[in-house]
Amino acid sequence: MGEIFRSITSIGVLILALCVFPGFVLSENGVTTRHYKFNIQMKNVARLCHTKSMVTVNGKFPGPPVMAREGDRLLIEVVNHVPHNISIHWHGIRQLRSGWADGPAYITQCPIQTGQSYVYNFTVVGQRGTLWWHAHISWLRSTLYGPLIILPKQGTPYPFAKPYKEVPIIFGEWFNSDPEAIISQALQTGGGPNVSDAYTINGLPGPLYNCSAKDTFKLKVKPGRTYLLRLINAALNDELFFSIANHTLKIVEADAIYVKPFETETLVITPGQTTNVLLKTKSHFPNASFFMTARPYVTGQGTFDNSTVAGILKYEIPSNIPHMKKLQLFKPSLPALNDTNFVTNFTNKLRSLATPQFPANVPKNVNKRFFFTIGLGTSPCDKKNQTCQGPNGTKFSASVNNVSFIQPNTALLQAHYFGQSNGLYSPDFPINPLHWFNYTGNPPNNTMVSNGTKLMVLPFNTSVELIMQDTSILGAESHPLHLHGFNFFVVGQGFGNFDPNKDPNNFNLVDPIERNTVGVPSGGWVAIRFLADNPGVWFMHCHLEVHTSWGLKMAWLVLDGKLPNQKLLPPPADLPKC
Ligand code: C2O
Repeated sequence: MGEIFRSITSIGVLILALCVFPGFVLSENGVTTRHYKFNIQMKNVARLCHTKSMVTVNGKFPGPPVMAREGDRLLIEVVNHVPHNISIHWHGIRQLRSGWADGPAYITQCPIQTGQSYVYNFTVVGQRGTLWWHAHISWLRSTLYGPLIILPKQGTPYPFAKPYKEVPIIFGEWFNSDPEAIISQALQTGGGPNVSDAYTINGLPGPLYNCSAKDTFKLKVKPGRTYLLRLINAALNDELFFSIANHTLKIVEADAIYVKPFETETLVITPGQTTNVLLKTKSHFPNASFFMTARPYVTGQGTFDNSTVAGILKYEIPSNIPHMKKLQLFKPSLPALNDTNFVTNFTNKLRSLATPQFPANVPKNVNKRFFFTIGLGTSPCDKKNQTCQGPNGTKFSASVNNVSFIQPNTALLQAHYFGQSNGLYSPDFPINPLHWFNYTGNPPNNTMVSNGTKLMVLPFNTSVELIMQDTSILGAESHPLHLHGFNFFVVGQGFGNFDPNKDPNNFNLVDPIERNTVGVPSGGWVAIRFLADNPGVWFMHCHLEVHTSWGLKMAWLVLDGKLPNQKLLPPPADLPKC
């Protein structure tokens, strides 16, 4: 393990380099336990010539990588030293029976209050690849995030040639002002929140922004080698295109699932998604450097940050080449900001490996079918005679099946486990929209959402098919939906309204991509399947944080099975209280 840690940290990812090693490692009965300590603390960080005090883990921005191997147990002690409530989510970790460690505030736990701590305790079962961790309360994940890298079991190779080095590349969004103030103001006025001031790669905006040339991520490479780039989109509100000038990327994994490899110049990655790519460097020193850039894919109608983050791919200069020469710099060309065709073509290429060693266990028989509309809507102003800054004087809202989720003031999982759900949530999330309308046609006159804390209840081992249908209310828009506690298979997608008679004939049940976050196409639908084999309360929401804030979220309650190993584990003693 040490060797891989060192190769990851020696690539100039200095920001990530400092805190890689777990506090200590213990092995017992063949299970390795890795201990981490996350001190949540304020730290002054400067970008774009603005210094601000931000919430960090151990003073690092981005946060430290958490590393483990498949099968390891992780014990991560989070100590809250800041004047904010905190919770941390291990995005993509299945949390089999350990939902108490999942992290979304008021869903699986009460937040950790100032001065308190909580030990996240979970085992990584049957997963390996790139995931990430982030704060899961309000907009604090804008600065609280980092890689979560799961290596295969000792001695198990990747299903591709061993890369020379591995490099995490984590995209983020930088706000000159405090994101907590931005969202709280937006929720009060009802208008859209201010957009970010920059995108970042490993926390660095790069030379295309004011005052940022020194804050540029540089990837130094040798010729003729293969690098594994572990891409993570931790941006708050933006899907991103990414490309490296004059280089081809081979996609080998998505959301910690191996895929059938394919080559591309450019890729698209939604918030919440991760993508591993192999970068083969040129066989000889190319006498040039190369920009790697990312900028948004935008389908919505609101304002957005249309800037571009750049990092630099630099080849080691051979000793026989004089040093003073100014190298040529190549720049990639990215698709147009609204290039949905590119996105469709790209996502259609993603296929599970579907080999005996890495099978695609797509549920073939479906027990329950659901149809959820996904989209924006409006709510009235809180006070009568007040004018809000959303559409026609209303407040922006967002919903699933027209239910805009109301965050409860105590955690749903506890309420469920201790039989105290009365008045906190209702188990009646609608299986389809209450009113049919032409979802992707002219929107209905009434765009008001309803509100509630409704859960969809599933018996253990229910095999689920879920169609998620974008609506055109306040504009069609791509929504990256993330499901906690499960991976799902993306068996189909299309544009317009889903046709239950025709579209299922084209479902791919052989090698569909398996993942935890999928883009519901703008003006279209996506069909997913999963097996509800993990008891607990599982959040599902748009990973565009502004939409989550507006209520585009719901939760599934998966009941215990009959066997002892099909039941939710008891809550840990230090579980935070509300
Ligand atoms: Cu990455 Cu519920 O989040």
